[in-house]
Amino acid sequence: MKSVITLAIESSCDETSVAVIRDGRQVMSNIISTQMDEHKKFGGVVPEVASRRHIENIQGVVQESLDEAGVTFGDIDIVGVTYGAGLVGALLVGLSTAKAISFALGVPLVGVNHIEGHICANFIAHEELEPPFACLVVSGGHTHMVEVRGYGDYNVLGMTRDDAAGEAFDKLARAIGLGYPGGSKIDRAAKLGDRNAIDFPRAYLEKGSYDFSFSGLKSAALNYLNSKKMKKEDISIEDVSASYQEAIVDVLAERSIRACLEKGYKTLAIAGGVAANSRLRERLEGDAKVHGINVKYPPIELCTDNAAMIGCAAYYDYIGGKVSSLDLNAVPGLRI
Ligand code: KG4
Ligand code: ZN
Repeated sequence: MKSVITLAIESSCDETSVAVIRDGRQVMSNIISTQMDEHKKFGGVVPEVASRRHIENIQGVVQESLDEAGVTFGDIDIVGVTYGAGLVGALLVGLSTAKAISFALGVPLVGVNHIEGHICANFIAHEELEPPFACLVVSGGHTHMVEVRGYGDYNVLGMTRDDAAGEAFDKLARAIGLGYPGGSKIDRAAKLGDRNAIDFPRAYLEKGSYDFSFSGLKSAALNYLNSKKMKKEDISIEDVSASYQEAIVDVLAERSIRACLEKGYKTLAIAGGVAANSRLRERLEGDAKVHGINVKYPPIELCTDNAAMIGCAAYYDYIGGKVSSLDLNAVPGLRI
């Protein structure tokens, strides 16, 4: 059978990324142009700035991706693109580019859900991985416990009711002066701290729930920091980071292991930027081993936003018969 070459575009937040993927799992190129330094000075992503940078970058990143893959536009069979969830202005840049390429080449356009993309990063990283499995999706904008029943067939067991796990990391990082983006900095500081130093709350919610809530933890941390400042007492960035991270990891691990046990999955995948967290990986591997569950996660460059994962999701949607029309619009609050 002839292989399918996908050109994939991701621009939902602050990375302009374009990838070329063969048959869904073989990455021929995955160019990621990050705007992180630009947004750092504002302490977070500024939507208007993100859209403008995407416009400036996108054409160059498309060309670089084709060049690195050693292909031309004529080799492309389908165009995959993130159409939600994300920042509307940022999404529209990738979407308009993808539509133009699809129209000019006369090849199918496949709109991809960003969260679905994060899950699919695991298919690229693990050749042997096949559904069904349970997947914890933890990023800056999303925290979902998902059953992956088949390619493109998902059942959401629970999601965050307020902040996403990555957002919780980023908010603490800002409060203790570690800057943006905070997750990896907290991860690093936590390695030198005592995770039992401060007893931060864990929101397990009602019995049996797979939902998450991190806003109480954030408030508890801010109250702790304020009271220390008022009393003019020293704050250990390392201890606060380690204790706060542990409170997040405890809840993520409980939900993930319970999903596997209650729903009968032997494989647990993790996805999204927070899946790069070293303590989360360590905890899940330890807890899963006790129950004979396999844990899979992508390498760090496939955990955070990238177009390769979007290309993988687009391929499976395409072979499953899902293509989009050229009037596809950006959907900022898209769900799976
Ligand atoms: O998936 P992603 O690149 O973007 C979204 O779709 O949101 O995730 C970015 C998030 C940020 O909140 C960042 O702080 C977090 O992932 N993150 C981490 C780590 N590396 C990135 N959080 C905890 N530990 C890390 N090592
Ligand atoms: Zn993401």
